[in-house]
Amino acid sequence: MKSVVVVSDKVFVPYLEESEILSAINGVAAQVNAAYKNTESIPVLLCTLNGAILFCADLMKRLEFEVELASIKVKSYEGTSSTGNVRVTSALTTDVRDRDVIICEDIVDTGNTIEFMVSYLKELGAKSVRICTMLMKPEAYHKDIHIDFVAKEIPNRFIVGYGLDYNECGRALKDIYVLK
Ligand code: IMP
Ligand code: MG
Repeated sequence: MKSVVVVSDKVFVPYLEESEILSAINGVAAQVNAAYKNTESIPVLLCTLNGAILFCADLMKRLEFEVELASIKVKSYEGTSSTGNVRVTSALTTDVRDRDVIICEDIVDTGNTIEFMVSYLKELGAKSVRICTMLMKPEAYHKDIHIDFVAKEIPNRFIVGYGLDYNECGRALKDIYVLK
């Protein structure tokens, strides 16, 4: 892990090593497996692009039941803060009517995105919607929706790497760095 990285115009320092990220993913995958081990349907694993792409891939490899992979792109962040206004920027790739959906998120921050996603999927007729997130900032979260599966809780700091970006940069870093 580098001791410092510059992403776009900001300086970031080490926060989580790849091995710590993967062990948190092992833990959350075990919880998801336990919850769906007797599932009779094939759930939709819904990757929220772009941030969740690496998490979704690593989670999927660890699932012991069949899933249909789908994606949607939503946007709420500009720079290092949430705009509070969520919009779909690339359409959902499958029909979720009567399906069990597992939303795969990179990080739950204020909860605006997840609140929007849950109501959007329910309006489209999803039978059940559960949320699996790699990271969560409990201090920033101010919604009532229960987050079903959380790999790791973190403080209210801005991070990049492992799929997470700052102005679309830094996603390919294999470790996670925090704003200095
Ligand atoms: P929320 O709507 O405030 O919960 O924010 C959720 C989305 O904002 C996440 O899916 C991320 O894409 C982005 N986000 C939140 N916190 C961070 C961060 O620390 N770094 C990079 N992106 C973040
Ligand atoms: Mg996201």
